[in-house]
Amino acid sequence: MSNPSPSVPDSRPYRVAVIGAGPSGLYTAEALLAGDENVHVDVYDRLPAPYGLVRYGVAPDHLKMKSVIRALVSTFDDAERVRFLGNVTVGPDGESGPAIPGEVLREHYHAVVYATGSANDRDLGVEGEDLAGSVGSGAFVAWYCGHPDAAGPGPALDATGAVVVGAGNVAIDVARMLARPAEDIAATDAHDVVLEALRGSAVTDVHVLIRRGPQHVRFTPAELRALAKLDDVEVVVHDDGVLAAGVEEPGERRMRQVLESLTEWRTDPPGPGGRRRIHLRFLRSPLRLVGRDGRVSGVQVERNQVTDDGRVRGTGETTTLDAGLVVRAIGYAGEQIPGLPFDEARGTVPHEQGRVLLGAEPLRGSYVTGWIKRGPTGVIGTNKSDGTETAASVLADLPDLANPSRPNGDAVLDRLREFGIEPVLWDDWLRVDAAEIALGEQRGGTERVKIADRRQMLDAARGTAPSRGRTR
Ligand SMILES: Cc1cc2nc3c(=O)[nH]c(=O)nc-3n(C[C@H](O)[C@H](O)[C@H](O)COP(=O)(O)OP(=O)(O)OC[C@H]3O[C@@H](n4cnc5c(N)ncnc54)[C@H](O)[C@@H]3O)c2cc1C
Ligand SMILES: NC(=O)c1ccc[n+]([C@@H]2O[C@H](COP(=O)([O-])OP(=O)(O)OC[C@H]3O[C@@H](n4cnc5c(N)ncnc54)[C@H](OP(=O)(O)O)[C@@H]3O)[C@@H](O)[C@H]2O)c1
Repeated sequence: MSNPSPSVPDSRPYRVAVIGAGPSGLYTAEALLAGDENVHVDVYDRLPAPYGLVRYGVAPDHLKMKSVIRALVSTFDDAERVRFLGNVTVGPDGESGPAIPGEVLREHYHAVVYATGSANDRDLGVEGEDLAGSVGSGAFVAWYCGHPDAAGPGPALDATGAVVVGAGNVAIDVARMLARPAEDIAATDAHDVVLEALRGSAVTDVHVLIRRGPQHVRFTPAELRALAKLDDVEVVVHDDGVLAAGVEEPGERRMRQVLESLTEWRTDPPGPGGRRRIHLRFLRSPLRLVGRDGRVSGVQVERNQVTDDGRVRGTGETTTLDAGLVVRAIGYAGEQIPGLPFDEARGTVPHEQGRVLLGAEPLRGSYVTGWIKRGPTGVIGTNKSDGTETAASVLADLPDLANPSRPNGDAVLDRLREFGIEPVLWDDWLRVDAAEIALGEQRGGTERVKIADRRQMLDAARGTAPSRGRTR
């Protein structure tokens, strides 16, 4: 097929923009670069730092997970063919400042791959959800991970009770971060403000509200078992006798292992007598958040029954738990990307093998990868096969896509500046990286300390902050 609208004489190298430097964007970029030496890739992110949720979602105490960064960083090895352009929001102007519309950026590229994730917290839809002290896991996790949009003291941890709603790995992460001794967190990259807040935390009881039974949870055995290894934390299973009555042996190995741990802990709780407790409360849903002076003071909880087809039905039996913090960890939703179709119900962009679909037809030159493509599930590694699939579609289509109507290279940087955007390039990011490592040396016993404030990140990027060492 001939090129439909050759606006520049030579179509090579092919220019691809990847919007989002999380795992899916980076795995896609890596596969594009490996797949065709004529492809050049610009990876954009609205943050001055790469790695998406690996940096701003994976819990600070998951040090092994953070080592994925050592693999992701190699995406930027070939400086001739790949650039990082951080601090660039693609879309409408946002809270963090000016942005460049996707259709403007599109003029400089053969293809654009959206890897923007699913950052929005879902709501429970219960009374009192807007009270202070009621937060989504996205916001809470962003705070303890030092995300620049969430920098600050975070929600008050001045009450003994905290409630976490949900039965996925994020709920377990949040419960663990609230319960584990702050001294353990000191050995991580957590920002000093977060560390101070956790050190001063009054929380003694973390109640995890799980709307269905032990056989319906989404968390993984490794995450569950990690709770049993926390110092000075007791894990209490409240299952209304479901496990004692016996549940059908699940076919899935993950579930068999989860049930094994829960069954054991029901009679032999880990960490007995610990200073803090994590209560796993099955068959419970929040009915209403109770407030005092505009703040959450408790949660009215209803006992549920689960129907044979796995649906939840309230029994009308309620109790109230004291809590000054309620974190809903019930999943995420993607945000509509201007100019692209959107499936509101799924919170994703309709696609076929990564090619964005407008009705039944592909929207030429537009692609998706990662959570915005398949929804907010899957571990970091899941994004590798996903990115490979999208990259394969891009590589197959590139020879037939229209040439960019505007030049690339430095012209893109000039275009960004026309929109008031000063991008953070790879070497700029390495200065932030080095400044964080220097802060880690100052704290001692940790590889790095995150800089959470956007202004300070940008100062470090421009070389106005101390800089020593780097991650690779
Ligand atoms: C709290 C939490 C903890 C997790 N912990 C683990 C774990 O321990 N282990 C594990 O294997 N998996 C974990 N996961 C899952 C894993 O993080 C995801 O599978 C993965 O990050 C999804 O990748 P993504 O690239 O699609 O999205 P993201 O990682 O969210 O990356 C999206 C990127 O796009 C950028 N972006 C968004 N909009 C724009 C825009 N308009 N312009 C420019 N840039 C934009 C964002 O800044 C972000 O950097 C966790 C998930 C969450 C939510
Ligand atoms: N260490 C790790 O590997 C790690 C860490 C964090 C996250 N992740 C991954 O990241 C992805 C996202 O994790 P996640 O925990 O956000 O999502 P998730 O695994 O989809 O879990 C969401 C949980 O919320 C519950 N829920 C949904 N709506 C609810 C409501 N209205 N009331 C009460 N509960 C409700 C769901 O219960 P039902 O089942 O009843 O619907 C489910 O238990 C997952 O794939 C996860 O494995 C991995």
